[in-house]
Amino acid sequence: MSDSLTLGPGGPLTGRLRVPGDKSISHRALLFNGLATGSARVRGLLEAEDVLATAEAVRQLGAEVRRDGADWVVRGTGGALAEPGTPVDCGNSGTGMRLLAGAVAAHDALVVLTGDESLRERPMARITVPLRQMGARIDGRERGRLPPLAIRGGNLQAITWENPVASAQVKSCLMLATLCATGTLRYLEPHLSRDHSERMLGAMGVAMSRRDGWLDVPGGQQPRCVDVDVPGDISSAAFFLVAASIVPGSDLVLEGVGVNPTRTGVLDALEAMGADIVREHERVVSGEPVADLHVRHAGLRGAAWGGELVPRAIDEFPVLAVAAACADGETVLTGAGEMRVKESDRIAATVAGLRALGIDADERPDGYVVQGGRLGAGAVDSLGDHRIAMAFAVAACHAAGECRIDDTANIRTSFPTFPALLAQARSA
Ligand code: S3P
Repeated sequence: MSDSLTLGPGGPLTGRLRVPGDKSISHRALLFNGLATGSARVRGLLEAEDVLATAEAVRQLGAEVRRDGADWVVRGTGGALAEPGTPVDCGNSGTGMRLLAGAVAAHDALVVLTGDESLRERPMARITVPLRQMGARIDGRERGRLPPLAIRGGNLQAITWENPVASAQVKSCLMLATLCATGTLRYLEPHLSRDHSERMLGAMGVAMSRRDGWLDVPGGQQPRCVDVDVPGDISSAAFFLVAASIVPGSDLVLEGVGVNPTRTGVLDALEAMGADIVREHERVVSGEPVADLHVRHAGLRGAAWGGELVPRAIDEFPVLAVAAACADGETVLTGAGEMRVKESDRIAATVAGLRALGIDADERPDGYVVQGGRLGAGAVDSLGDHRIAMAFAVAACHAAGECRIDDTANIRTSFPTFPALLAQARSA
């Protein structure tokens, strides 16, 4: 992976644009329909490397997945899975690997899950420990703590699981494994993580209930395929929300963005800084709340972020740190230790990038402290992490001079059209 992006300060961001489909919902639309009975049409699927890896994986498991014009069509396996003849490559995607692990653990088939250099260093004990407790046989590097994972499942018994961190990937993995298990999954997390799986599986006829923070999912349920209209990804919109907030004169509308409350932490974090973001034309599409987001430049002030906001903005803290660098005063993030085990150590990468551009920033074990100042010219290493690369491309829009961001090829994993859309918004 290499490539670099060179960007300098420029004019305001204006006009209207549509960011691509939500990555979390796109993975789920392919995988859940691939396991279900019947067939479904998916509109607005994110066509980025992570999701295309999941499409190929679902094909290897025996479902039909094909593009049909601008849409995608999935014909589910109806329950039984094929045993792939080669390892399943999840690319850069933790979501792909952890959700697939849950789906295949329910079946008596040998499935090997692997991925790229970054994914092969990401923690898997969070899923292999509970899946083994359910009865799956799983091996992997470091006794199942790291990929590749070799899974042979079947005959699972649902468990009660209190997860120490809020993780939609762990929750969804256990929900999928439970669908073919006996007993009932009882799952508790410290704060509610994104609930796209609950919404989509619910629409597929899967019964579940939530009480006092516990999610209960009875085993032995076969989902039915549903059509999905994928909303715009708020995690992709976040780069434009911050860019327009920090560049004077900006006035931008982002159309059709998913505003599920388990994902809108970035809006709350920016509002706490004094940002000017208005939701327009709110509606519900495929069981997910959607709105147009109208953002105008505003003077920002430092803020304190933590607690239940963290899982609702977990992927947005790199670009939020760029907003903090342009704010008046200090911004402190706590409770976000999970950032250290994403596609890169995002606390280290964010702080190093801000310092490379002349900002006073410090790491904390579970977050960062950023002093607002003036972004300067410089070179930033994105460490091959798509969200670090795009966060610093946003910083460059309001820096004092030209910035070079290195190792940006992985932007293709989540937002291949980002450079073109940014250029469009800056020249509109
Ligand atoms: C995701 C859940 C989050 C998030 C990731 C996508 C999902 O990860 O960071 O980008 O689609 O379920 P965790 O479950 O590890 O918090």
